[in-house]
Amino acid sequence: MKPPLPGCPRGRVRQGRSSGVPPRDGRVAACLRFGLFTQVLLLTACSIGLGPGAASTAAPRPILLPSADSGLPSGLRLPLERADAAAAERSFARDCVPCHGPTGRGDGPRAPLLRPGPADLQDEGRQRGLALSWQHRSIAEGKGAMPAWGLQYDERRIWDLAFLTWSMALGPRSGDQEAYASHCAGCHGAGPGTEALGGGHRLDRAGRAARSFDEELALLRQGAHPRLGGTAEATLEAALRWSWTWLYSPAPAATAAQEGP
Ligand code: HEC
Ligand code: HEC
Repeated sequence: MKPPLPGCPRGRVRQGRSSGVPPRDGRVAACLRFGLFTQVLLLTACSIGLGPGAASTAAPRPILLPSADSGLPSGLRLPLERADAAAAERSFARDCVPCHGPTGRGDGPRAPLLRPGPADLQDEGRQRGLALSWQHRSIAEGKGAMPAWGLQYDERRIWDLAFLTWSMALGPRSGDQEAYASHCAGCHGAGPGTEALGGGHRLDRAGRAARSFDEELALLRQGAHPRLGGTAEATLEAALRWSWTWLYSPAPAATAAQEGP
């Protein structure tokens, strides 16, 4: 594959063309500043240079297992591939911090002007009850005083943002990986990219994004899931937090922040 042209980022060139709305990315803006004619040339060159299917980022991402669940409420979607929270950090700093604040607490400079105010994205009680699919829709279509971001960002980046904001409350903490390794890996496999042992049930299933953390926790306690009787609640929660990394790679900074003293 050819390297991207200077001033012609791999990121959102196609999106800018198809939606007709200039993306806010500074590098893309630089790309567009050449004027209409050059812009068309550059866009074409980008597309040709990258080839089909390489529209959004350099590294290919693991595809999630499709969901058998067709009962998704209308308007809700599922991710197709593993999300990358770190990839959304720059977008978050630019577009979300003014309202949600630098750590997502809902204390950005614009917050006092809004009623109801921006959600506290670190509020664990709140985040535990919300499926990623709902948050994806809120971000894409807007909610209350929050504008819609669906024209500025492609589908992949919106999922990255959804997982980044979700992980501000439910990202992995120290000890979570160990809890997963000792209580879950035996059936589900060590982590993304590994087969579950003995052909067991893989956790990189897109359908999980339609459930909230609390719903999954309840699943572990009942239903078709093999009994985890005797496992302490805190251990189950830790293991479950880690199990979500099958669907997204957490931002290292967020992980460190959660670890605390
Ligand atoms: C203009 C201010 C503003 C900006 C900018 C903003 N938000 Fe929000 N956001 C809000 C408000 C207000 C709410 C609460 C909406 C409600 O429940 O009434 C909210 C709620 C949310 C929620 C919770 C959604 C839900 O389903 O309850 C998420 C997630 C979120 N924002 C993410 C983002 C992301 C990601 C960005 C940046 C791309 C962003 N926000 C930018 C104001 C903003
Ligand atoms: C004895 C084997 C076994 C162990 C141990 C086990 N699981 Fe499971 N798990 C399964 C099976 C089998 C299913 C599929 C159940 C079904 O068909 O509904 C499943 C399903 C799940 C699901 C739903 C996945 C989906 O695709 O919707 C989650 C989440 C899950 N397990 C998490 C965990 C976590 C977290 C642990 C560790 C605390 C764990 N499991 C331990 C066997 C196991």
